[in-house]
Amino acid sequence: MVIPDFGRRADSSLVGYLGAFFLGADPYVYFYLSNGNDPLSFKALNQGQPVLKPTKGTGGVRDPAIVQGGGSEAGKKWYIVGTDLDIGKTNWDASQRTGSRGIFVWESTDLVNWVNERLVTVEDATAGMVWAPEAIWDASKGQYLVHWASKFYSASDTSHTGTPSNIRIRYSYTSDFKTFTAPQIYIDNSPTDIIDLDILPLDSSGTSYLRFMKDETAKTVFMESSTNGLFGSWVRAGGNSGIITSQVEGPAAYRDNQVENKVHVLLDFYGGDGYRPYESTEPKSNQWTASSRSAFPTNLRHGSVLPINQTLYNALSTKWGS
Ligand SMILES: *[C@@H]1O[C@H](CO)[C@@H](O)[C@H](O)[C@H]1NC(C)=O
Repeated sequence: MVIPDFGRRADSSLVGYLGAFFLGADPYVYFYLSNGNDPLSFKALNQGQPVLKPTKGTGGVRDPAIVQGGGSEAGKKWYIVGTDLDIGKTNWDASQRTGSRGIFVWESTDLVNWVNERLVTVEDATAGMVWAPEAIWDASKGQYLVHWASKFYSASDTSHTGTPSNIRIRYSYTSDFKTFTAPQIYIDNSPTDIIDLDILPLDSSGTSYLRFMKDETAKTVFMESSTNGLFGSWVRAGGNSGIITSQVEGPAAYRDNQVENKVHVLLDFYGGDGYRPYESTEPKSNQWTASSRSAFPTNLRHGSVLPINQTLYNALSTKWGS
């Protein structure tokens, strides 16, 4: 069934939200569970301790993204992907010249037990880093589209000491998060640097999407929409210079479980207290308001939020709640 553009009704089977984040000084995966079905009220799971700590690569993971299974894995499989980076062991220049070209992957069949940690190289040797991977099921391909941000050095500059390209969003396809197709460019707004892409489907037919990203040159987050697929024509809300707000990064968007047509986006005030929630019922008109923060934890950094049903909510509470 094709659901009309942005017409999805609130879903009564969804009773809460699971958030996965990293915390400022701690590059590990932390879980937060909503208090009831409140999209703006979260509590730390596992008594505030990490639920995933990498054993490979840099030993640090940033930007954890929960990926919902699609196709034959729908409702049966979830993945967490993340950036291989512990900035405490390097610096921002080195991490973009000779940073990791791999992404961390964990998988789960119940959202509670996470296994098969791996660090999979997805980029070419000319890339300086792979940042903020995320993935989305592409029904038209029957595979997951995985994307991330990289900048590139000339092939002769094997130690990456020269001047790099702008930062682009690159993508690849996978069926199993083990093997990936050769990377290609998804978004190149040269000379602007673009990072932290987050795609939110608005229907179940693979037609209508919102995508949020950070302009790393201007230090702003903006949104685009498409009504003709992941490789359709994307329109920037608010016009060419439209933004949601500045001095933010790491957008994490999710649909409201109860309010029809409401979208939330967390924006990471990286120079301040981390994520703050914003909301809109007219995102394509670029009309956003800051949400209440009275029950929203501070110092959460770039991650993702997944709407969940009662079975999953209970399982998470039982395993990680206090
Ligand atoms: C919730 O989703 C899980 C995973 O798809 C499924 O196994 C379970 O039956 C669902 N529970 C409810 C109450 O819908």
